[in-house]
Amino acid sequence: MKMNNLSLLFLTHLTLFFICVCSQNIAQTRFVYKWSETYCNKDTPVGCKQIPPLKFILNGFWGTDSNGNIQQGCRDPEKRDWKKVFDTAMVNKLSLFWPSLTKQDPKDMWKEAWNTYGTCTIERFKTPTQYFNRASRLDSEIGDLLQSHLINSNGIVPCDSATYNNVEILNSFKQVSNNKDVSFTCKDINATHAYLNQVTFCYTNDAKNFVDCPTSVTNKRCRVQNIIVPRPSPPKAIQTTGEKVGPNSLRRFPVNYVKLY
Ligand SMILES: *[C@@H]1O[C@H](CO)[C@@H](O)[C@H](O)[C@H]1NC(C)=O
Repeated sequence: MKMNNLSLLFLTHLTLFFICVCSQNIAQTRFVYKWSETYCNKDTPVGCKQIPPLKFILNGFWGTDSNGNIQQGCRDPEKRDWKKVFDTAMVNKLSLFWPSLTKQDPKDMWKEAWNTYGTCTIERFKTPTQYFNRASRLDSEIGDLLQSHLINSNGIVPCDSATYNNVEILNSFKQVSNNKDVSFTCKDINATHAYLNQVTFCYTNDAKNFVDCPTSVTNKRCRVQNIIVPRPSPPKAIQTTGEKVGPNSLRRFPVNYVKLY
């Protein structure tokens, strides 16, 4: 009897041990957008296969622990049927805000995002579908706001000769984040000028409500005097490929690009 109790105790401990080891404790989630022109042409150029759209696109969606560390590299307990996850509806949804600008197949990119970061949020998002749907939901809540507050209205004008200071950029983003503290990073040009690179929004662990980003993130905010939101330059591809300029060759460029030029 005594022995049985002991082994029961032992088993309970063993089980608890495994539960602790295997499940990640997500304290917050982060939704990170990047400015596509900086990503394609100003940071370490990555060789974008298309003209960067004049907008923020998703860089990543991940969980952090209570110390603010990004949780990554968890093991997926299940084998996923990716054909089913990335059905037409899902592909259409994700392509809107999370396109691959490089040669990488977007489905491979999304799969990588799940395998690297999504798997660590599994206590909240049980399946890739839940994870991607939540990302899509977040984008539908703030993507348009970002675009209209910052880019399309009297906000921030993407233009290589316009500069904004740290406070102006921060305040624009805070209009989107319900006034919660956000972080943004830059790609430095020199001691006084930098290109806007990424913006991070922080959420509760279920990715439903904004919270202030921790200082470990906001500390890294770019603080140069002059921040530039660069604009994609007009197409050169037409000359280099020797194609005639006409309605057909224009059709290859993203719609919002054509509209703006
Ligand atoms: C820093 O870069 C900006 C933008 O390219 C430029 O206008 C400025 O003159 C540069 N400043 C110095 C000190 O080189």
